[in-house]
Amino acid sequence: MLNEKDKVKKLVGEASVEYIKDGMNIGLGSGSTVYWMVKKLGKLVEVGLDIKGIPSSNQTAEWAEQFGVSLTDFSHVKQLDLTIDGADEVDQDFQLIKGGGGALFREKVIAAAAKELIIIVDKSKMVTQLGKYPLPIEVLPFGWQMTANEISRLGCVPQVRKKAGGPVVTDNGNYILDCPFKLISNPRKLDEELKRIVGVVETGLFIGMADKIIVGDGDGIRTMN
Ligand code: 5RP
Repeated sequence: MLNEKDKVKKLVGEASVEYIKDGMNIGLGSGSTVYWMVKKLGKLVEVGLDIKGIPSSNQTAEWAEQFGVSLTDFSHVKQLDLTIDGADEVDQDFQLIKGGGGALFREKVIAAAAKELIIIVDKSKMVTQLGKYPLPIEVLPFGWQMTANEISRLGCVPQVRKKAGGPVVTDNGNYILDCPFKLISNPRKLDEELKRIVGVVETGLFIGMADKIIVGDGDGIRTMN
């Protein structure tokens, strides 16, 4: 039995496949909303559409395999036609916080490689200003404490993401620092400052990347361009 939020995630995830056309190479995001998109995409493949996906996480790759969606990689594909992904926060300028699932690096790669980026969210992710959700930042394990210390100078107390007592290790072999900035007044500037810190691999700030947001709530979906 799906709860109300999961029903909305299913609704937006399934609705997003409307934009997937025969012959496309698709970037497959990560997370529980994307799960429904990949499952529905499997139905399109079943009826004969020729689609290939590049997954942004090992989890998404498993789902693609489970639902019969063929995978490819960047040695075969120079540009993706479309990437569909979820988000943790979206503001009115389509700026995003992503990385709640720890897949932000590969998510940013498939977003950057796509002609179009569609974000699928339930309404609770829409915010007036980014920052309530602690910003995930992927960092190299070596000297991560030093990296965290440098990040803290920008106005937060970073926490290394942990699971079963040890740091969570990303699909790239790195750590995630969750950084509660509370309110991010200039996301682009913060992103630039963070990227200058030694040890930062990538941030969960996606600025100027999203083209379309599909937002769902109990009443249905709304598409913002
Ligand atoms: C993973 C992500 C996800 O897209 C984000 O966390 C949203 O997940 P969900 O659809 O489960 O709410 O950025 O790194």
